[in-house]
Amino acid sequence: MHRELQKIIETPGPNRLDRTFPGTLTDIFPRKQPLEIEIGSGKAKFLLHRAELLPERNFVGIDYIWKYIKIGWQRAQKRGLGNLLLFKAEATEIVGHLIPDESVSVFHIYFPDPWHKRKHHKRRLLTAEFFKLLSQRLIPGGLLEISTDNFEYLIALKSALVEAGDDLWSRKLETKNRRIMNPEFATNFEMKYQVEGRDLYYLELQK
Ligand SMILES: C[S@@+](CC[C@H](N)C(=O)[O-])C[C@H]1O[C@@H](n2cnc3c(N)ncnc32)[C@H](O)[C@@H]1O
Repeated sequence: MHRELQKIIETPGPNRLDRTFPGTLTDIFPRKQPLEIEIGSGKAKFLLHRAELLPERNFVGIDYIWKYIKIGWQRAQKRGLGNLLLFKAEATEIVGHLIPDESVSVFHIYFPDPWHKRKHHKRRLLTAEFFKLLSQRLIPGGLLEISTDNFEYLIALKSALVEAGDDLWSRKLETKNRRIMNPEFATNFEMKYQVEGRDLYYLELQK
């Protein structure tokens, strides 16, 4: 078994996989359907809503904070959502090792931690390398949805996109204070920031 998958299985939590499970994250759903992944899903407000709305799709949420995963998972159980799985894990490990190329329809990354201090910038998720990896994992025509409230991080991630190469994407869309996908609902942080009156920036990249 893949070492990274073994680690996830051993993580105490709601989504224990069978110990003999040989595959990747795309094999764990009973129904083969288009896959959407949210990175840094928090308490999974967005995914719970979307999984309920779209039973003909599979959803995975990844967050490294166990408390959030547990809350999201309890809510998913209450709603009987068989098409949503939540994993406590480091997102780069899952995307790096457990997802085949050209297998993901949509990646959602909403309000990734901006790591304000300069000396912490290296912890930022959205680097040129990670953009290349995300594009590799997307199916042709697949989407990467991003939002941030931090203008400086927006500029930095746009320059990471340039560094990663323009040829990764067939189309780019950018909006301010208007969510692109599912404009009818918001994530937890989005709601909080809207109440505070912050400017919010959205990007949609299509492979
Ligand atoms: C600012 S919160 C946003 C949560 C949610 N997307 C929202 O909009 O309400 C960022 C979340 O990403 C998670 N996170 C940040 N970096 C991560 C990583 N490398 N792997 C897994 N989770 C990560 C944090 O634990 C946190 O829950």
